[in-house]
Amino acid sequence: MSAQKNTQKVALVTGANKGLGFEICRQLGHNGFVVLLGARDEKRGQGAAAELVQQGLDVRFLKIDMDNPATFNAACAYIRQEFGGRLDVLVNNAGIAIDWGYKADSVPMEMLRQTFETNFFALIDLTQKLLPFLLRSPAGRIVNQSSILGSLSMHSDPDSGFEQLKAFAYNASKSALNAFTIHLAQALSGTAIKVNSAHPGDVQTDANKHGQISAEEGAKTAVALAMLPADGATGGYFYLDKSLPW
Ligand SMILES: NC(=O)c1ccc[n+]([C@@H]2O[C@H](COP(=O)([O-])OP(=O)(O)OC[C@H]3O[C@@H](n4cnc5c(N)ncnc54)[C@H](OP(=O)(O)O)[C@@H]3O)[C@@H](O)[C@H]2O)c1
Repeated sequence: MSAQKNTQKVALVTGANKGLGFEICRQLGHNGFVVLLGARDEKRGQGAAAELVQQGLDVRFLKIDMDNPATFNAACAYIRQEFGGRLDVLVNNAGIAIDWGYKADSVPMEMLRQTFETNFFALIDLTQKLLPFLLRSPAGRIVNQSSILGSLSMHSDPDSGFEQLKAFAYNASKSALNAFTIHLAQALSGTAIKVNSAHPGDVQTDANKHGQISAEEGAKTAVALAMLPADGATGGYFYLDKSLPW
């Protein structure tokens, strides 16, 4: 490990071969981070990392499959070896939305379980495994890529305009993720780590073909939370600098 790498901040972004994750990597790279581009598929991940390296950024592919915890252990070993066991930023971005059209009265259990496995249980497992590394950073930041669709306040308001957006598994997985944000931030009070949930906006990606804003715009909230100053928020839920109702 070179002396330069000792001082350069290191960020890991999951689900980063495309969409918001890719763009978050690009923006963090432009802000001087060494970026570990997490992706489950080696070819897609290597290709995405190569695209950013071509733009002059220090980006390395790291295999992270949310459905395969063995990849979490391998990622830990890599961070130990390459960066002395320090990680400055974790952006938990990988996520699935597979239950559009199913409300709480009909969502198949398999879809509910799969959604929670990827969007919630695996995310917590990975985060806990990386915590010792984040604690070694002078300014550890954890960003949970949530959604306004995780907001129970919005869902319980009949005037929120959410009636067409009741995919229960996805929405509940993001509500649960928000609970993790709150609890983890409190568990880590007294450390330098800040933990926040981000809503990226209504972003055009493969997961949301009719999104209204670009990935470049959508990445801004997560990137800002990844780079919060020492007096920044923790245990919050944000879209840009606006606080959202839980
Ligand atoms: N787009 C929006 O408007 C919007 C709004 C609110 C929240 N979000 C959240 O933003 C995040 C990114 O979404 P996106 O819109 O950028 O979607 P996307 O383009 O579909 O990207 C999703 C990423 O997650 C990865 N992924 C899915 N399952 C995985 C697994 N088991 N292991 C590892 N990686 C996995 C995908 O990898 P593959 O390419 O291999 O499938 C892909 O890289 C998600 O958490 C989503 O819920 C998006």
